[in-house]
Amino acid sequence: MYAAVTLFVFVCMTATAHAEHHQPCHSPNMTGSMAVITMKGEVKASGAFTYDSMGKRLRFRSNESHPLNSSMGLDLLMFFEEGIFYEIDSKNQSCEKKALQCTMHPLAIPDDARFLATLNVGNPSIEGEGLKVNVWTGSMSDMKGQYSMSVTMGCLPLSVLYFSEPTSFLISHSDIEIEIKDPDLLVVPTFCQGQPVEETPEGTVNSFLNSFM
Ligand SMILES: *[C@@H]1O[C@H](CO)[C@@H](O)[C@H](O)[C@H]1NC(C)=O
Ligand SMILES: *[C@@H]1O[C@H](CO)[C@@H](O)[C@H](O)[C@H]1NC(C)=O
Ligand SMILES: *[C@@H]1O[C@H](CO)[C@@H](O)[C@H](O)[C@H]1NC(C)=O
Ligand SMILES: *[C@@H]1O[C@H](CO)[C@@H](O)[C@H](O)[C@H]1NC(C)=O
Repeated sequence: MYAAVTLFVFVCMTATAHAEHHQPCHSPNMTGSMAVITMKGEVKASGAFTYDSMGKRLRFRSNESHPLNSSMGLDLLMFFEEGIFYEIDSKNQSCEKKALQCTMHPLAIPDDARFLATLNVGNPSIEGEGLKVNVWTGSMSDMKGQYSMSVTMGCLPLSVLYFSEPTSFLISHSDIEIEIKDPDLLVVPTFCQGQPVEETPEGTVNSFLNSFM
């Protein structure tokens, strides 16, 4: 969390750093923790994610018993290739199936992202004391705004800052393992199957980030 905030300040100061020829990397399959925090300091959600990088599928389940007042109970299963997602209520065995209007999400660097800089956080030349990260930036397609994504050299996500109206977000990742520990989490639960896609009200944009607004 502190690292991410420090990075943000640093990125703002070095926004003119120049890129050579960099292509956005693709993250591997992953399991880990993710926190969604507003720039006002509210923890919107904190929980576990599972990500299939080839199939472009993401599951995020927030921990409702996390002792933070503003946190939301959310269970999302997103299929970015198909452009649909499910909001799952496991207790209730119910779900809502919706269309995704924007497929941007914090585990993939958009193809048109611009390389900003390579940063040394701490001191990477001392074992266990530092991390070398690449920072990517770009515009958000659905909202007026910018993002800044930091990933390790192996393309593991560290944090993402979304600067947008009406709310800016910090998404922070931790405890990443490079495997899908429970593939069943990426399968549509039986009680959600055959569900019709709900109509998206005019003016609404469904996206990963919008689920937290
Ligand atoms: C990632 O996970 C998917 C789904 O389980 C699997 O089909 C794919 O082979 C995995 N990719 C790698 C590189 O392990
Ligand atoms: C949820 O948060 C509580 C309180 O911090 C913790 O005890 C519990 O292990 C967490 N559960 C999961 C599934 O992470
Ligand atoms: C949580 O938020 C509610 C309403 O916003 C407030 O009434 C309550 O006192 C808060 N609880 C804690 C523990 O902060
Ligand atoms: C179960 O779902 C219904 C309708 O979808 C909702 O009104 C109700 O609040 C839900 N109950 C719980 C315990 O989540």
